[in-house]
Formats: sequence, structure tokens, C-alpha cells
Amino acid sequence: MSGSGIRHDPACRRGRRLGRADGDPELAIPEAVPPEPGRVLLVWRRCPFPVDWERAFGRIAPLHLEVGFGDGRFTTRRARAEPEQDFVGLEVSTESVQRAVARVRREGVGNVRVAKAGAGYAVRHLFAPHSLDSITVNFPDPWPKERHARHRLLRHDFFELAASRLRLGGEIRLATDHLDYLAFARAEARLGGRYALVSAAPPAAVFETKYALKWREQGKPLHYQVFRLDRPSQLHPEPLERPQRMPHAFLSGAFPSATSLPADAKRVYAFGDAHVIVHEGAQAFGPGERWLFRVTVDEPELTQQLLVVAQRRVGGEVIVRLERFGDPLVTPAVRGAVHGVVQWLHEHAGFELLERNY
Ligand SMILES: C[S@@+](CC[C@H](N)C(=O)[O-])C[C@H]1O[C@@H](n2cnc3c(N)ncnc32)[C@H](O)[C@@H]1O
Repeated sequence: MSGSGIRHDPACRRGRRLGRADGDPELAIPEAVPPEPGRVLLVWRRCPFPVDWERAFGRIAPLHLEVGFGDGRFTTRRARAEPEQDFVGLEVSTESVQRAVARVRREGVGNVRVAKAGAGYAVRHLFAPHSLDSITVNFPDPWPKERHARHRLLRHDFFELAASRLRLGGEIRLATDHLDYLAFARAEARLGGRYALVSAAPPAAVFETKYALKWREQGKPLHYQVFRLDRPSQLHPEPLERPQRMPHAFLSGAFPSATSLPADAKRVYAFGDAHVIVHEGAQAFGPGERWLFRVTVDEPELTQQLLVVAQRRVGGEVIVRLERFGDPLVTPAVRGAVHGVVQWLHEHAGFELLERNY
């Protein structure tokens, strides 16, 4: 990890006072908009948090969540069988999201909404306290190696978070082929003393998901466990900072030539509890001096792939700003993307920071 260079404490004055970028339309962040009723794929990054699910579904109904729905066959089957209930599916895989959205549309199921989001972040920010009736997790990735156990979904901290989003008596329903995972989830659930472990017969469709069929074909026994919430928690979401302007900075300096850069110019920087990876930078075509940087910001529950622009302005200074392309969610950690590029330009081309707004 590289840490030298420009610090993000006041190495220079914050820009508000100087107002270099006041009124710059490129820096405006569009206001959050409520979900579009009837739309299957939820553009959650643009929504006010928590999401107004009653508006998204166009009615008031019990709300259920499924994490990691894969191709969505269980989700749609359950939604058709229970038309009076509403179902939200979360997935991190783009391909799975596309498949599931196509399936929901093809089958004309009106009570399913799909979001491409990781469960930790989404459960915390997209759902109001005690708004969920159940959370289903069918065949979660088992992360079988001990040292990878921290990647498992059903850890103590997830049970605690869910205890603040489920209603009293709400359930987490787990199906797995993996005995170690089952034992692990049971032990983690017991830690907080909030859940009763209930034996229940799985609905038939649970053992007919894509993965269930795969494991059954291999002769693996399948397990089902219900965790019923008996002692809810009062953990409320911290209000999320929703800034109105893109994080940015002003620098002075000259862009490097591609040939003057080392073969591996990629850098990783720490920013609060996030990691910022500046993968690469390249000159953009068109008039003027403009570079684009591909950056990943990895914060504890959210990973975002971002574009950062560095552009020479009239007067000679260079503005570095987060680009709107890709719909970034401007979290406090995402300011680190600008910081990473500022650092990168300092280390590789001797740029100096004039003003920062991140
Ligand atoms: C083994 S597959 C099971 C898929 C499906 N439930 C089934 O039974 O066929 C696990 C799924 O969980 C998704 N996943 C993993 N971590 C996730 C997370 N944090 N949030 C949402 N989905 C996740 C993966 O992309 C993958 O599609």
C-alpha cells in the first residue's frame, strides 16, 4: 500500500471559502428521486434511503427479502404463489440480475422488485427498521475455508442488523447443502440471543432452485433452518450523507507522458476505513488536456467502480472530480476516489494540491 504524499487533512484550505467551482454544472449531483412504481429493476442508488417500498410496489403489503436469488426461479415461484405479499430480491451478480429481471417480466409477476446490491449495505440502508417479514437465503456461498469465514453472509453482525430490520416474529430462512455453514449460522445466531431456532419443513420450491438441483444431483443432503426473531434490536440507520456536489480538488502541475510512467503505476491508498485502488489512468481524446482514471473504492459493505476525471481548466489549474458516469453513490468513502487520484498525480507527476473539496 502506498501512503506517502498529500494527506487528506488540511494540507490546504477547503474550497468552500475560495469558491473556485461554484456553479459548475459538472459538479452537481442530481437530487434523489423516489422509486418508479411498477419498475422491476430498482435504481436504488438514486432513491432516498430507506427506499419507499410502498411506492415501488404501488401498495401496502407484507415485505419479504431474498438475498442472492441466482436466476430468480424461487423468487418468481414464491411471488406467484403469494400474490398478496411483496418480494425484493438482492444480487451482486449482474448476469443473475439480468436473468431474474427477464424472468419476472416474461412471467408477468407484479409483486417482485430486483436490486443489484450487496446484502450488508442494502439491508442497512434500503429498509426501514422492522419493515421486513422475512429474509430468505437459499444456498449462500459457503466460503468453506476457515480463513474465509468472515465472507459468510450469516455472521453475528448480519443477524444483529437483520434484527433491526425484521419485525418481531419475522424470520431468516436458510437453505444449504453445507453442514459446516449450517452449524456456523446456528452458532452465530445464538450469540445475540435474539433468535429462536425453529425446525420447519422447507417449501418445495426451496429445494428446486438451480443450486438445489445441482447439489441433489450430486446426492448431497440439503438442510433448511428457520431463525425466528424473538428479541428485535433498535439499531437504526445512521442518516446517510447525501452531498449536493461531486467531491473534487484543484491541482497545479503537468500531466505525465505515458512513456514516463512505470510499468505498474497502479496504487492502493487507505481512506478512512476504505481502500482506494487507482487501477489506471489514460488521456481522453478530444480537445484540451483531460485524463480519465479507473478507480475502485472498497468500503466495508460497498464496493464501487468509479471514473475520476482530471481536466485542465482555463487559467491553467487542473480540476480532479468524480465523474457522474456509472451513477456513483457519493458516500463519505467515495471522496477517497478523488483523494487517490490527487495522490497518484502527486506521486507520478509532482502535481501540487491547491484546493480540496472532498
Ligand atoms: C450459490 S448461489 C445460490 C443462488 C440461488 N439462491 C440458488 O439457490 O440457485 C449464491 C448467490 O449469492 C449471490 N451473493 C453472494 N454474496 C451476496 C451478497 N452479499 N448480496 C447479494 N447476493 C450475494 C451470488 O452472486 C450468487 O448468485
